[in-house]
Amino acid sequence: MKKLIVWVLAAAMVLCGVACQKKEEKKVLTVAMSPDFAPMEFVDTSKTGQDQFVGFDVTLANYLAQELGMELELKPMSFDACQTAVQLGSVDMSISGFSWKADRAENFLLSDYYIAGDNETEQSVITTKAKENTITEAKGFSGMKVGAQAASLQEQLVKEALVPEGAELVVYKSIDDAVLALQTGKIDALAVAHGNGEAIISNNPDIAFTGYDFDVDPKYENNVILLNKNSTELLEKVNAALAKALAANLYDGWYEDAKALAGIETAEEVSYDDEGQAPTE
Ligand code: ARG
Repeated sequence: MKKLIVWVLAAAMVLCGVACQKKEEKKVLTVAMSPDFAPMEFVDTSKTGQDQFVGFDVTLANYLAQELGMELELKPMSFDACQTAVQLGSVDMSISGFSWKADRAENFLLSDYYIAGDNETEQSVITTKAKENTITEAKGFSGMKVGAQAASLQEQLVKEALVPEGAELVVYKSIDDAVLALQTGKIDALAVAHGNGEAIISNNPDIAFTGYDFDVDPKYENNVILLNKNSTELLEKVNAALAKALAANLYDGWYEDAKALAGIETAEEVSYDDEGQAPTE
């Protein structure tokens, strides 16, 4: 019996030796992400661990890790913390629905654009259902508290367009907290990327669009990955992988899948006949 145990232990050590070595060979790609931004990155509460993070950017991060021959580790943190982490070099990069922004171009290495459907082709403001479509001009927010995520494009837009018209900016680290603040009357409105607004509204029937959209330059419409100023080599590899994804036409499918996961209702819904069969055309 003793002999058997010794043999089993020895075998286990040999096996582990092989497996562990393999693990060591594959480097880990650490990616900071703020999972409060459906359909780009959000949490599937039915899952745990790394699997709970889902959405377009999670698919993109997995794709990049595969292209780089690395193992992916997502590091969830608040949106402002994602940016600090990249600057401090405590993560390899952040993929979190970042728009191009002048200050980011100064403080980070930015990847080439990647295209997440119509998530940010418009920038909008949401409010409670009772006020749906009641505000169409910036001055309509005069005297109102308007929320935005800290260190986001939406924060910049509120500062530029609504604060001069008499709105008060209220900043939240997490979009989930900002939505709750809207629902409990702590703020009157919340600036959001339009696609994210659709996801929020699909899951919260008490929320609706105000009817106001910001006037936004097209350079803010697509997304970039944030890397540390010293990561020139990694940036080249990332851009090569992004070019490959674009050429292979992968983005559209990723975006449609992410929208479906986020429960966003799309205009082109499939209708079913009496037998429950989708039309074959
Ligand atoms: N695109 C906007 C920005 O760059 C919003 C991104 C928010 N992303 C997030 N994961 N919360 O500021």
